[in-house]
Amino acid sequence: MPDFIVEYGKLGKPPAPDGRLDGPAFHRNHDAIWSAIGGFLSQQTGDVLELGSGTGQHITAFAGRTPHLTWWPSDIVPPHLASIAAWRQHTGLANLRAPQRIDLADPHWTWTADGQAGGTLTAIVCINVLHISPWSASQNLIAGAGRTLRDGGRLFVYGPFMRDGAHTAPSNAAFDATLKAENPDWGVRDVRDLNERAELAGLTPADMTAMPANNLVLAFTRAVRQN
Ligand SMILES: C[S@@+](CC[C@H](N)C(=O)[O-])C[C@H]1O[C@@H](n2cnc3c(N)ncnc32)[C@H](O)[C@@H]1O
Repeated sequence: MPDFIVEYGKLGKPPAPDGRLDGPAFHRNHDAIWSAIGGFLSQQTGDVLELGSGTGQHITAFAGRTPHLTWWPSDIVPPHLASIAAWRQHTGLANLRAPQRIDLADPHWTWTADGQAGGTLTAIVCINVLHISPWSASQNLIAGAGRTLRDGGRLFVYGPFMRDGAHTAPSNAAFDATLKAENPDWGVRDVRDLNERAELAGLTPADMTAMPANNLVLAFTRAVRQN
């Protein structure tokens, strides 16, 4: 069964002296995630926002592979924001920008680019966040993607998901029970429910890519806006 970490560095590996945190799942999943999102992102220019960046390791790895994109990390936990800033400093990547605080509990969340209101985004990435936050965070993520993605832009979401009311593996069912025991508002989300929200937000239904350990990458595309 997968485990979950809400705050890196609290238990397990402490931060490096400069504040860099190391998430164990990153080492297991980042190549697989890139295999699902890299085909699109390698062909694009513009801005990519990550929500719930955690340690900052995914966005650092992805920014290193795409100098033609500008990457904007975010989170809500101060040690995570410090870790992201430390990874940025450590790698010196010019296309990885300073972390900002974006809370998916806020239905009106938005993003900024160096202090200015952010424009439309090429993509949004959100990894292992929706099951450790209330359903409203999933709703707010998708509604915000509808507002902020450019036409044809994509929202990529990684994690464990249910399909049509059923878990895809016994290990995901056990994980869901563990999450709900920790917090009744958490839990493995259903692609069907996310697709309903996507339709309301002007996004296509999820295109799904199977990942190791019964995870999925969901890719929602912003439909062309009608004037
Ligand atoms: C399990 S961690 C995943 C972190 C990182 N994406 C990864 O996969 O390594 C979940 C992350 O979501 C963040 N998070 C939780 N609730 C959030 C919210 N309401 N808005 C934005 N981020 C949130 C946490 O601070 C944490 O960094």
